[in-house]
Amino acid sequence: MKRSSYCGDLRKNNIGEEIVVCGWVHSRRDHGGLIFIDLRDRSGILQIVFLPESRGTFRIAENLKNEYVLSIKGLIRCRPEGTINPNISTGQIELVVAEVEVLNTCLGLPFEISDYVETSEELRLKYRYLDLRRPNFQKKIITRHKISNEVRNFLNEEGFLEIETPLLTKSTPEGARDFLIPSRLQHGNFFALPQSPQLFKQILMISGFDKYYQFARCFRDEDLRADRQLEFTQIDIEMSFVDEDDVISLIERMLSRVFKTVLSIDISTPFERISYNDAMLRFGSDKPDTRFGMEIKDFSQEFKNSEFGVFSSAISNGDVIRGLCIPNGSVFSRSEIDGLIKLVCEFGAKGLVWIKVTSSGVESNIVKYFKEYEVKTVVSKLNARPGDLIVLLADEEKLVAQCLGVLRLKMGKKLGFISKNNKFNFLWVVDFPLMNWNNEEHRWQSLHHPFTSPKENIDAITKENIGRVKSRAYDIILNGVELGGGSIRIHKTDIQKKIFEILNISDESAKEKFGFLFDALLYGAPPHGGLALGFDRICALVTGEESIREVVAFPKTQKSFDPLSNAPTPVDDEHLKELGIKVISKLIKL
Ligand code: AMO
Repeated sequence: MKRSSYCGDLRKNNIGEEIVVCGWVHSRRDHGGLIFIDLRDRSGILQIVFLPESRGTFRIAENLKNEYVLSIKGLIRCRPEGTINPNISTGQIELVVAEVEVLNTCLGLPFEISDYVETSEELRLKYRYLDLRRPNFQKKIITRHKISNEVRNFLNEEGFLEIETPLLTKSTPEGARDFLIPSRLQHGNFFALPQSPQLFKQILMISGFDKYYQFARCFRDEDLRADRQLEFTQIDIEMSFVDEDDVISLIERMLSRVFKTVLSIDISTPFERISYNDAMLRFGSDKPDTRFGMEIKDFSQEFKNSEFGVFSSAISNGDVIRGLCIPNGSVFSRSEIDGLIKLVCEFGAKGLVWIKVTSSGVESNIVKYFKEYEVKTVVSKLNARPGDLIVLLADEEKLVAQCLGVLRLKMGKKLGFISKNNKFNFLWVVDFPLMNWNNEEHRWQSLHHPFTSPKENIDAITKENIGRVKSRAYDIILNGVELGGGSIRIHKTDIQKKIFEILNISDESAKEKFGFLFDALLYGAPPHGGLALGFDRICALVTGEESIREVVAFPKTQKSFDPLSNAPTPVDDEHLKELGIKVISKLIKL
């Protein structure tokens, strides 16, 4: 019996047809005279009826259990009056069994195959083949496929070439720890799995393939979070003879096409652009969630001569004073407010000023130190109304931004400002600083990577003014999540040399680390730029998932472990010997 249809595709217009379906027993109901099963395949569910007069098939139906695998031939008929199920796409019809074949049985399940049953993640990952059978999960994986398919269609139509780059390669400068692969033929030498195809895609531009893309598997040995996996997929793109606007416009067209075709959602382009400085000032984050307001305002000018010593001395130290207004926050209890203070102190702040706005004035932990006009200025600049809670923080600029950014997000979630109703707020963050100062290591480091082109003319850049130099980088943000990032690259050796010099990367070290790209720049490198989008993150956001583990078929746990295959596992001594490797530290079971 070869399958003629998927279960979920059948409709009223198939009534009277003889069809063959294959799938899993989703549920079985014995109604005395009749036995019903819901048969499930990846397209959906179809109701199957076993009639007692068909004795052989009825006897088989009596012994069916959930997740048995069946092939069924029968006639599609209209469901009798009163038994129509409007909740499923096949709810108006059913299949009356003529022949049934049990293709396989199934052991008792560790958890029910249902979208509504909560199970521990460890168990779900151990039995991922069962977890993946859940109808919702199947939908998400199918959506993932549709998105990748549409991205490919779009890029192919735009004249891009899909080119693979090596997985066994040399470490790339993304900043995370590399996964290393020992060489059997050159003991002591290692390949690195790519953190991204960055160097190779630039080489492809120098090779003349002026529009490249790849669904690139990337590997980063970093601590896992909801939006991070050890291995993940990027939609990696690079183009020659372009500027920022060309790359940005391509991505906007690509995303609006994908959202329209796959999700039937119209997103309006062009997306808003905001400078890095503005993002840090207004939202306290370089990946602002703009689905709600509660913007941060600066009060450094207003408090520069304040009698409140904490504020005025902060300003004379070069620090800043910033604050935000939490709508209806004055209902917060003292312990809730203490919770906010504790939160910012965990990030290193020394305290938090709060002001409750009431209809008869203000109430605060320090308001007695404020002049009336100072309070009035704060209330009016933040547009605060009776019932609102204002918080103010004085400290070093970076810390203030971070604390208020975290607090804003926490309050936005707590107060229900972040709706889950398919609101997609895309945003470009531009004008990043080219480098920032690493306080621990006392050196400049690239905010993106060292091949990012500076905005300023290279002759005007010095070690002294590098902190103020902007880059030609752009990040794309969706609902507060960094979806992707890229830049126009440096394509001239003299500029690259100078950047390495400021980064304190010697000629030798640059040659050692990125030599092949460095050399290639000397052989007619065209101006080029590109970007990489986190494919898993896109899939999670469009399917409403918080964690990318929910859209990856076989992810690792938070502890970097795969409960399905039990990887990572020890390997035998013989294998290690072949690779010239000796394990010196003991296995730590997580
Ligand atoms: P970047 O390092 O910003 O840029 O990565 C691009 C995008 O990849 C996604 N991403 C991840 N997704 C899941 N798990 C991870 N561990 C993880 N790390 C990153 C994010 C991120 O925005 N070569 C440059 C791109 C370029 O300049 O063209 C790069 O890799 O969505």
